[in-house]
Amino acid sequence: MTKIAVFGSGSGTNFDAIMKWINNGKLQAEVVLVVCDQKGAGIIEKAEREGLETFVFSAKDYASKAEYEAVLVEKMRLLGVQWVVLAGFMRLVGETLLNAYPHHIINIHPSLLPAYKGKDAIGQAYRAKATKIGVTIHYVDEGMDTGEIIAQKAIELTGNESLEEVAYMIHAVEHGLYPATLEMLFTKEKSLCL
Ligand code: GAR
Repeated sequence: MTKIAVFGSGSGTNFDAIMKWINNGKLQAEVVLVVCDQKGAGIIEKAEREGLETFVFSAKDYASKAEYEAVLVEKMRLLGVQWVVLAGFMRLVGETLLNAYPHHIINIHPSLLPAYKGKDAIGQAYRAKATKIGVTIHYVDEGMDTGEIIAQKAIELTGNESLEEVAYMIHAVEHGLYPATLEMLFTKEKSLCL
């Protein structure tokens, strides 16, 4: 069973989708830690409901990114974490974490990267009147929403959708694409290790 840590800052609907796949046996993984940088975020409540170990931190309580990432790496090593799964984690990953998990940190972003990087990607695409939007899953590097692309799924819009409808469509794609991509990555890695 692949051991993963899920990192989030928000409502945790992607975390929920991953848990659904795990709980019904479609994703061969175990979430051994949920990390959150926002006290009171929905993802924490959801993780606690699942009975999972959580680590909530505030970046301002640490002298630097390297300092809190060293704490996270230590924790994850003790728990045997193999993959770090960012699910709405709104913070750039630094070299301490990147060096500890080379090519094993992945992120989901609600746009067809390289278009609309950064915060509020759905709003950015909507205001630009984009008619082809989508979701990207990619390896994490030191940049913001850069890194090698693993999977993308596009959605065509008519241009008559409201922002809420577009957001709903994006999230529906995310909740299928993320767990399916994780399953593909973990299965591939297991077959390479045999
Ligand atoms: C998701 O839409 C995810 O793609 C986005 O944050 C949302 C988190 O929602 N991530 C980014 O924008 C990363 N740059 P959730 O907490 O309900 O899963």
